[in-house]
Amino acid sequence: MSLTPLGEPRQKITIASLREKKLRHEPITCLTAYDYASARLVDEAGIDIILVGDSLAQTMLGYDNTLSVTTDEMLHHTRAVRRGVKNALLVADMPYGSYHVNPDEAVRNAARFVKEGGAEAVKIEGGEKRADLIRRIIDAEIPVTGHIGLTPQSVNVMGGYKVQGKTLAAIEQLMRDAVALDRAGAACIYLEGIPREVAAMITAEVATPTIGIGAGPECDGQVLVFHDILNLTFGPPAKFVRRYADAAALISDAVHGFRADVISRQYPSDQESYHLPKETQSALDTVLERKRAMRR
Ligand code: KIV
Repeated sequence: MSLTPLGEPRQKITIASLREKKLRHEPITCLTAYDYASARLVDEAGIDIILVGDSLAQTMLGYDNTLSVTTDEMLHHTRAVRRGVKNALLVADMPYGSYHVNPDEAVRNAARFVKEGGAEAVKIEGGEKRADLIRRIIDAEIPVTGHIGLTPQSVNVMGGYKVQGKTLAAIEQLMRDAVALDRAGAACIYLEGIPREVAAMITAEVATPTIGIGAGPECDGQVLVFHDILNLTFGPPAKFVRRYADAAALISDAVHGFRADVISRQYPSDQESYHLPKETQSALDTVLERKRAMRR
C-alpha cells in the first residue's frame, strides 16, 4: 500500500468515498492529467480524482477548442493515464459527438472508456437534457459524472466561453440541471464558470458532490487543469486559475542549456560517455599499431 507524505496509508478513492467526503465536509481535490508521467505525479501527490479532460484537445494537441478531439484520441490518453494511477478515481471525458447521436452509441462509447481505457467513470456535459442518458449509462454499470454551467462543448451555442447563470432564469435552469443530475445518480457534478453564489446554492441543494472550476469556494471540491497550474498554456490565464509553478520557464531554461552545451561541446563529457573494456582497448591498440607499422 502506498503512503501519504505524512506516512499514512493512502486509500483507493471510489464513488462512495466522494460522497463520504461531502458528508464530512472534507474538500475533494481533482486535477486533469493526460499522460503517464503527469498521472503518476498527480496520483502520488494524493489528488482524489484524475480527470482525463477533453481539454487535452487544447493543452496536448494544440486545437482551438475541444470539439475536434475524437474518442480514439481520448482513449489513447486515458490508457496512458491509467498506467500511472493507483489510488485516485480515474474519470474520462466523453468527447463531443460521442454521446450526442443516440443512447446506444453513447453507452457503447462509454463502455470503451471502461474496457479499453480503464476509466472508472465517464463525464458528459449537460444537465436536465442528459438525465435519461445518464441513467442509461449507469444501467450499463458505468458511473457518470455531470458537467454544467460553462460547458466548453457548447461553445458555439453559448457564443464563446462566458460565465453562465447570471440571470434569474439562468439560475433556475442551473438548479433544475443540478437536481436532474443528482436524481439521475451522477457520481459528482462539475460546476464550471458560474457565480460563486449560484454554485453555493447548488452545492447545498444536492447530495451529489460538486466539483468547481471557476465556481467559487463553496463547492465540495475543486478542479483545475494541469497545464494551467504549471503555466504551460501559452496565453493569459482565466480569472480562476492559480499558477503553482512556472514549468514553461523551467523547461525553456533546460532546453536552452542543452542547446548551449552541445554547441560549445560541453555535452557530453567523458563521464557521460561509455568506454571500451580495458582488454578490448589494448587489443584494439595492438591492431592499430600493427596497421600503422605496415603503412611505414
Ligand atoms: O476537460 C476538462 O479539463 C474539464 C474540466 C476543466 C472540468 O472538463
